[in-house]
Amino acid sequence: MTSARRQPVSPGPVSPGPVCSVVAGSAVPGGRTVASTNPARLDEVVGEVTFADADTFVAGAEAAHQAREGWAAVPAPVRGRAIAHIGRLIEDNAEALARLVTDEIGKPYAEALGEVREVVDTCDFFLGEGRRLYGQTVPSEMPDKQLFTFRRPVGAVAVITAGNFPVAVPSWYIVPALLAGNTILWKPAEYSAVVSAAFHELFVRGGGLPDGVFNIVHADGPATFEGLTRALEEGLVDKVGFTGSSAVGREIGGLTGRHLQTACLELGGKNPLVVTPSADLDLAVEGALFSGFGTAGQRCTSLGTTIVHASVHGEFLRRLNVAVAAAAVGDPRADVLLGPLLDDRFAGRYEEYLTWVQPHHRVQGASGRITADNPRAGFVGDPAAGLFYHPAVVDGVRPGDRLFDEETFGPLVGVTTYQTLAEAIDLANAPGYGLSSAIYTTDAREAFTFRDRIGAGMLSINNSTSGAEAHLPFGGNGKSGNGSRQSGVWVLDQFTRWQSVNWDYSGRLQKAQMDVAELVADTTFRLPG
Ligand code: UN1
Repeated sequence: MTSARRQPVSPGPVSPGPVCSVVAGSAVPGGRTVASTNPARLDEVVGEVTFADADTFVAGAEAAHQAREGWAAVPAPVRGRAIAHIGRLIEDNAEALARLVTDEIGKPYAEALGEVREVVDTCDFFLGEGRRLYGQTVPSEMPDKQLFTFRRPVGAVAVITAGNFPVAVPSWYIVPALLAGNTILWKPAEYSAVVSAAFHELFVRGGGLPDGVFNIVHADGPATFEGLTRALEEGLVDKVGFTGSSAVGREIGGLTGRHLQTACLELGGKNPLVVTPSADLDLAVEGALFSGFGTAGQRCTSLGTTIVHASVHGEFLRRLNVAVAAAAVGDPRADVLLGPLLDDRFAGRYEEYLTWVQPHHRVQGASGRITADNPRAGFVGDPAAGLFYHPAVVDGVRPGDRLFDEETFGPLVGVTTYQTLAEAIDLANAPGYGLSSAIYTTDAREAFTFRDRIGAGMLSINNSTSGAEAHLPFGGNGKSGNGSRQSGVWVLDQFTRWQSVNWDYSGRLQKAQMDVAELVADTTFRLPG
């Protein structure tokens, strides 16, 4: 298997022609071809992409299904070495991959480099897991009998991901799934297809992955849903991993549930950040600025609503507005806090969120698209070239407002006030999501009360809502997911199934619970006096 280090078909950006799907090691040409453009320079084409139909999705699932026994038979330490080589190849290509991320989705270069780092971190974590993947030896209740547990791969995994983290988030699924002996069909976001092709090529080449182990299908939502429905019906997909909106996550959860499968779901968030009276206000402002406007507010962990104690609300808001006005906005190849929105679709939706601003809300400064008529002081580059929007702070949001209750993917942060910590936590939990959260406080009692009562799967104390490290469990509750967790050792429970083994060498049938020796205890004994 390790000698299978042939040069794979190269459908990525280094080969001429459009990016296309790769099934069982072969490029699948044909289909609707569209240009993937740079959201910071709309007239710049990053690459052409050919979109496949539902049949190709099913073929990709079939290829992963066929390859799964062969890949599972590769010893786990050998799979770990493949992950090690992938990590090194990604590291050696980090700048080029990050530049592609910046150009295709408009993520500022420093952040794009951080995102590539997260892929390398994930590989670094899992390369050693190939030499662990521990099971247990467990004592039996009967003599001459041994009990064991083994982790077994789940099979063929369909991974469907968003494009706001076009390499880090896919790696959270694909690296542990491959390491654990599963095969992959990956459907990346349409608007990050060129980056995805590069990622796929680095994985296949770096890992020396045999044909069919890692398939990629570029498809739109309807073709994907039809393909996934059929692949599940035909028994070709054993597990689905999905990162995206809560609405689509609900559909995927329903579909997989009908096949008695539990999808690994990483969905939206309305992530709260609480500022208490004891907080270091400058630190809280810095945290809110990065949480709210880093990645132009397009992380699933981005700040939704800042919940500020009434006694510090005025001062916090003043300092936040100063910081937002001073933030560098513009060309993501430059040193900016926020660049453009991901693509047209996201820009359109963001403009809709802005219509949710009501008369009782207060917005400081300009909002909406940055143009010559609606300019931003200090803008870096040419705003007319791309999908650039003013960062917006909306004060006075409250439960019942769409801006308070719903995720608003983009550079928009709500602000509200509270009087007691209990009220702050109720406000933080009210929208019913539960991905990330933060509290700024110097009071240990407040920090631990928040930890105890917040519904989110992740919380930061005196740090931003975004920026989870790659080896802690990542995932949410409520509308943010179904309780699945990615990253670290915890994700192994998504991509392996526990197998229990009873080995009886007594030579007779020993019946559990019935043929168990009992020692006779004297439970009536008491010490004198
Ligand atoms: C996402 O937005 O889907 O914690 C993932 C963070 C990043 C990952 C975000 N490490 O903000």
